[in-house]
Amino acid sequence: MRWVVTGAAGMLGREVVDLLRRNASDVVALGRADLDVVDARACVEAVAGADVVVNCAAWTAVDAAESDEAGAFAVNATGARNLAVAAAAAGARLVQVSTDYVFDGRASAPYRVDDPTGPLSAYGRTKLAGEWAAASADAGALVVRTSWLYGRHGGCFPKTMVRLGRERGALSVVDDQLGQPTWAADVARVLRDLVLAGAPAGTYHATAGGQTSWFAFAGAVLASAGLGHVEVTPVGSAHYPTAATRPGFSVLDTRRLAQVGVVAPGPWRERWARAAAAVLA
Ligand SMILES: NC(=O)c1ccc[n+]([C@@H]2O[C@H](COP(=O)([O-])OP(=O)(O)OC[C@H]3O[C@@H](n4cnc5c(N)ncnc54)[C@H](OP(=O)(O)O)[C@@H]3O)[C@@H](O)[C@H]2O)c1
Repeated sequence: MRWVVTGAAGMLGREVVDLLRRNASDVVALGRADLDVVDARACVEAVAGADVVVNCAAWTAVDAAESDEAGAFAVNATGARNLAVAAAAAGARLVQVSTDYVFDGRASAPYRVDDPTGPLSAYGRTKLAGEWAAASADAGALVVRTSWLYGRHGGCFPKTMVRLGRERGALSVVDDQLGQPTWAADVARVLRDLVLAGAPAGTYHATAGGQTSWFAFAGAVLASAGLGHVEVTPVGSAHYPTAATRPGFSVLDTRRLAQVGVVAPGPWRERWARAAAAVLA
C-alpha cells in the first residue's frame, strides 16, 4: 500500500511519516517545498500511484487567518479539494485532518461527529470548507477532527509553558476554555488504523479522553518538567485578547472510532504522562 503524506514537515505530518516508516510502509513524504496543495496540477502529479493520501497540510495560523481568510481558504479548502480530486483520479483514499474549531464551543456535552457545526473564526470556516471539499470527490474521504495537539516536532503549548515557566517563575493561564490535549503521535496512529480498518467514508473524532482547561494542563506539564514550584494563576480568555475567537468548550466525542474497530486515544492525563519525556526532550 503506497501512502502519500502532504504537509509532511509539520507537527502531525512528521508523526504520520515516522509511524508509517516504522511499519515499513511505502510512504512518500511531501513537505510544502515538495508539494503546494494549492496547485491543482501538482496535486494530480504527486498523488498518481498512491493508495492513500493523508493531508496534513494546513494554514494553522489561527489569528493570522482573521486578516487573510482567502489565504487560509486557499490552503485549507481549495487544497483539500485539489487533493480529493487528485485522489479520486488515482483511485486513492483521502484522509483529511480537521479541527474542533468547526464547532461554536457553546455545547456542554462532547460534540458528536454529526452535531451541527458553527465555526467562530476564519480558520474554523476554512477548515469546515475543507471537510466539505474532501467529501466532494469520489475519494472515500475520512475526515478526522482533532484538537489541542502537542508533539515532538515544532512548537506546542507544553513547550511554551516550560520555557515561560523557566524564564518567569510564574504564569497566568486561561481556565475558561475546556478541551482535550492530544498527542500528535496518537492521532497519527488513529489515522493509520482507520485506513487499515477500511472505515466507511465520513467524519471521525480523534482526541484524548476526558477534558481539562489550559490552566490545568499547564499544571500537569510543569509538574512533569520538574517545575511544580512555578506559580500558575488561572485567568479568563479576556486576559489574552486574540484576533480569533476560540471555542469555550472543545470536547469531542470519539465513540465512532470504536464502532469501526479503532481504539481511541486514552485519557489525556495518561497520554501526557506517556508523551512528556519525548515532547519536552
Ligand atoms: N495544532 C493543533 O492544535 C491542531 C488542532 C486541531 C487540528 N489540527 C489540524 O491538524 C493538521 C496538522 O496540523 P499541525 O498541527 O501539524 O500544523 P503544522 O505543524 O502547522 O503543519 C502544517 C503543515 O502544512 C504546511 N503547509 C502550509 N501551507 C501549505 C501548502 N499550501 N501546501 C503544502 N503544505 C502547506 C506547513 O508548512 P509551513 O510551516 O512551511 O507553512 C506545515 O508544515 C491540520 O489540518 C490542522 O488544521 C491541528
